[in-house]
Amino acid sequence: MEKTEKKERKIILTGDRPTGRLHVGHYVGSLKRRVELQNSGEYDDIFIMIADAQALTDNADNPEKVRQNIIEVALDYLSCGLDPEKSTLLIQSQIPELTELTFYYMNLVTVSRLQRNPTVKNEIKLRNFETSIPVGFFAYPISQAADITAFKATTVPVGEDQLPMIEQTREIVRSFNHIYGEVLVEPDVLLPDNQACMRLPGIDGKAKMSKSLNNCIYLSDTEEDVRKKIMSMFTDPNHLRVEDPGQTEGNPVFIYLDAFCRDEHFAQFWPDYKNLDELKAHYTRGGLGDVKVKKFLNQVIQSELAPIRARRKEYEKNIPEVYRILQEGSRRAEKVAAQTLAEVKAAMKINYFDDQELIQSQARRFGEN
Ligand code: TRP
Repeated sequence: MEKTEKKERKIILTGDRPTGRLHVGHYVGSLKRRVELQNSGEYDDIFIMIADAQALTDNADNPEKVRQNIIEVALDYLSCGLDPEKSTLLIQSQIPELTELTFYYMNLVTVSRLQRNPTVKNEIKLRNFETSIPVGFFAYPISQAADITAFKATTVPVGEDQLPMIEQTREIVRSFNHIYGEVLVEPDVLLPDNQACMRLPGIDGKAKMSKSLNNCIYLSDTEEDVRKKIMSMFTDPNHLRVEDPGQTEGNPVFIYLDAFCRDEHFAQFWPDYKNLDELKAHYTRGGLGDVKVKKFLNQVIQSELAPIRARRKEYEKNIPEVYRILQEGSRRAEKVAAQTLAEVKAAMKINYFDDQELIQSQARRFGEN
């Protein structure tokens, strides 16, 4: 007999919590890559989720913050080049099937396993939850497994910090398929490929960009805001005079250059150097001032942000259309999730009314007296 070859569909799912505007760290760390993956034509389906329900797990008292940031994140997505014709943009809370899947997956995960999830552990510490951890927050890795498996995602492009989530998802998939039969798909993680892109520091040199530290460059910042932020950036504190030798390692200006700058930028803006290595060598030797390097970084980043800003302006003129895109995407996503949920329920034998055989056999059983 001829074997029909079942080609595995390649499906991407990823997303962000809408707790703030997205910044250039998000851009180099994930958004840019998503757009490349979208345009590669290699994927059969791409789902990009605004994870509002997850955002509420630690913002239950501030729904307005989540609500306001949904449109911000959507504008950030669209302005970076995510194209609703190619990628499905959806809002997590609008897909009730995700909550239902979460509830069933909860039976496959132990409390101690959740307690061992390093990301959750760290977040609990950061939020000072101590012993008053909201159950929803504690369980969000399970809900994230529902997000991923509902769409049978094969590929989850995320940052390193999300690795424990994907591992937990894979365990849930294996456990589900082992108990109930092969329904769910085990996803693979896709990490950022450029080392500098793993984590961009804040403009103050702190390890992380964070809204509360006020050290972010946002995608939606004006040209002038971005320029001011770059010119005020922390550099090598021992590089006091131009003649002094400077350190490029751990120097935020150079970390940003590592992330953003290409050889073409030198040809275009600073033909004194061929590439970043030459620039770094000069800085290390001494005789190169920080202001010059920052001005160059500003040109590089502005050239990257200009098309993003232009696209954002267009979408900002038509906000109802952006909501329509999200609604359309959520509707489409729900259809896919509903199909998976139906398979899950059938496998778990909780599809009573669809199961004529069950009804008939029960009728026979009770008729036999
Ligand atoms: N936890 C992710 C974040 O904080 C957001 C997210 C929710 C997600 N569901 C997801 C990411 C599913 C990847 C896959 O950014």
